[in-house]
Amino acid sequence: MESMAIQKKEQRNKELRERILQLKKEKNAIILAHYYQRPEIQEIADFLGDSFGLAQKAKTTDADVIVFCGVHFMGESAKILNMEKTVLIPDERAGCPMADMVNVDGLKKLKKEYPNATVVAYINTSADVKAETDICCTSSNARYVIESVDQKEIIWVPDKNLGNWVSQFTDKKFIIWEGYCNTHDQLTVEDVQRLKAEHPEAEFVVHPECRPEVVALGDYVGSTTGIIKYCRESNKKQFIVGTEEGVGYQLRKESPDKEFYFASKYLVCPNMKVNNLKKVVDCLETMQPQIYVPEEVADKARASLERMLLVEAK
Ligand code: 13P
Ligand code: SF4
Repeated sequence: MESMAIQKKEQRNKELRERILQLKKEKNAIILAHYYQRPEIQEIADFLGDSFGLAQKAKTTDADVIVFCGVHFMGESAKILNMEKTVLIPDERAGCPMADMVNVDGLKKLKKEYPNATVVAYINTSADVKAETDICCTSSNARYVIESVDQKEIIWVPDKNLGNWVSQFTDKKFIIWEGYCNTHDQLTVEDVQRLKAEHPEAEFVVHPECRPEVVALGDYVGSTTGIIKYCRESNKKQFIVGTEEGVGYQLRKESPDKEFYFASKYLVCPNMKVNNLKKVVDCLETMQPQIYVPEEVADKARASLERMLLVEAK
């Protein structure tokens, strides 16, 4: 009975994949996906990446249509960098609660309090907020973005955990917004220590959106792409992973001979999981939902994103 249901699902997914291929050709579309997406979405992506890689790819693609399988701010960044292209997101409910923790009014107030500060925004922000900032960053380039800034004061929005991590590499003064990722912030020192006791040979690789005391335990700290690369290139065989569980699919694909233990069963971003193959087909057929950003907001937000894209990672 169960195997029949699985067979039926596989057949359905095969049909959906074929339809996606057809629609991509018809519309000259490209599918960009984040590593936290479901495996079946990762499998149909033309490009998989972290927030930085996805923004770079969105800027350079010559497709007419970008289907963005991630969360809203990622699709918005793709649109801002390509106003002439159509950017589709399979499900409008895919937001990022951390991005929603900072708003324009609050940021404007802070800017008035610290008029000499440079405003650095994690890419996990809305277009409206980006438009009020000087430069964006992602977890893969945050250190280099801060180094590229001349001012001694930084207003940092919205992730307090990433802000805390990056502030230790500089003597600049950080004014840090109190935002956080509900998924990464749940991971505790006890969770990691328990797994370390069970797997004493394993290294701990962690995303800087986790709490400072958890990040401090990391043998490697970095973005999703950074974590995947580190594990692939390491001669260690076991890893405890401190980021969203979707990354496990790529980790196991790229390093099939290695073991990965997720540091907590709560490391799931529900927003990243709302997309599925059927919704990808639907959005390509109807060309909806699309991302729209008003020109004047996009122009200001683009300056901040493009300034980030010019920063060289070392
Ligand atoms: P990365 O840029 O490391 O992929 O992170 C994106 C994100 O939203 C992490 O929660
Ligand atoms: Fe936002 Fe956290 Fe989900 Fe990343 S994992 S998209 S920061 S809620």
